[in-house]
Amino acid sequence: MSEEEDLEALGVKAGAVIFSSKTKYVIIKLLGEGGFGAVYLVQDMVSRDKERPYFALKVEKKLDNRRHSKLKMEVAILKAINAMRHDRHPDNKKDRIASYLCHFTEIIDRAKKDRYFFLVMQLVGKSLADLKAERKERVLALGTGLSVASQCLEAVQCLHEVGYIHRDLKPANYAAGLKDKTHMIYLLDFGIARMYKKKNERGNFELKTPRDSVLFKGTVRFASLACHRNLEMGPKDDCESWFYLLLDLIVPKGLPWRRESEKVAVQKIKDACRQNTEMFFNKIKAENDLVKIIKYLDGLEYTDTVDYEYIYQVLNEAGKTCGVDLTALYEWELPPPPPSPLEKQASVVGEQPPSKK
Ligand SMILES: Nc1ncnc2c1ncn2[C@@H]1O[C@H](COP(=O)(O)OP(=O)(O)O)[C@@H](O)[C@H]1O
Ligand SMILES: [Mg+2]
Repeated sequence: MSEEEDLEALGVKAGAVIFSSKTKYVIIKLLGEGGFGAVYLVQDMVSRDKERPYFALKVEKKLDNRRHSKLKMEVAILKAINAMRHDRHPDNKKDRIASYLCHFTEIIDRAKKDRYFFLVMQLVGKSLADLKAERKERVLALGTGLSVASQCLEAVQCLHEVGYIHRDLKPANYAAGLKDKTHMIYLLDFGIARMYKKKNERGNFELKTPRDSVLFKGTVRFASLACHRNLEMGPKDDCESWFYLLLDLIVPKGLPWRRESEKVAVQKIKDACRQNTEMFFNKIKAENDLVKIIKYLDGLEYTDTVDYEYIYQVLNEAGKTCGVDLTALYEWELPPPPPSPLEKQASVVGEQPPSKK
């Protein structure tokens, strides 16, 4: 039985009304589903706003045998982010990290039911995986890709600042905003995130002691080499996954291991790319700049702090080398190009001529 059918049996389906202590939501449609739950588009039915607002509702079934609830982690992280919004002002441009809080969705509501939990959050638009799939050759233009990747890293830097690593960075877990937020990239899905540093009694962060061996977590295509080797992951591993995401967004034909799904085979290609870094890039012009990032990341260890500023700087240099503007509108913000002469001709040929009687 699919997850969706399973939730349907619990009454979570299009048209259903779901109550929280604050309000009631009507489910409009499914937006995405994963291993333990699903995400739905919902509308607040009690709101007095002229247009009743839409949100995303993420549901997880209660299971006795699951030790870690993914949704609990999700709520813990969004709450930590919200707390930071209160402590440090997001509009303060001098506090760079506070200005990165905009990359997280707001928590609207949450509730526990007999058989499931749900979290209601700000609704965002299409994921980077969907946006990429809509483009020619399934890659973003270099200007869009470099700028989007820079925003993706800002979100990760901010998450690391609050003490968590994500462990599943990939295009499907980032999305662009809606309405006036189409230029904003949001980080989603904290289901398998982990706290890697903790505040001690004096209020200072202390790194958690790494475990000797760790089970594989995340997505094979974007996993760091440490993850393949069952080592404890730290901030640098998220950055390595982010680097694969960057390549996936901008390199025509994608990652060199895209056709492999088997874990060990993928690891072998990732290792081989270190011996011959050209393999990462498929001859893109930004190669000489971007290679510096992976060389830098490969030199880091679990305990190291990442120099994010260095990475942003390399992305900007790559933009200059290639003559692209990282401040321009993104591809999905532009009006669709006019049809080519060939496409025009095709549509004329396809039209039925007016019948002469
Ligand atoms: N706040 C949101 N607004 C709109 N769509 C969302 C939102 N959160 C998730 N989605 C969509 O649902 C998909 C699955 O959500 P995600 O949080 O990644 O859960 P999981 O991968 O654990 O099922 C995402 O790829 C995205 O397309
Ligand atoms: Mg996901």
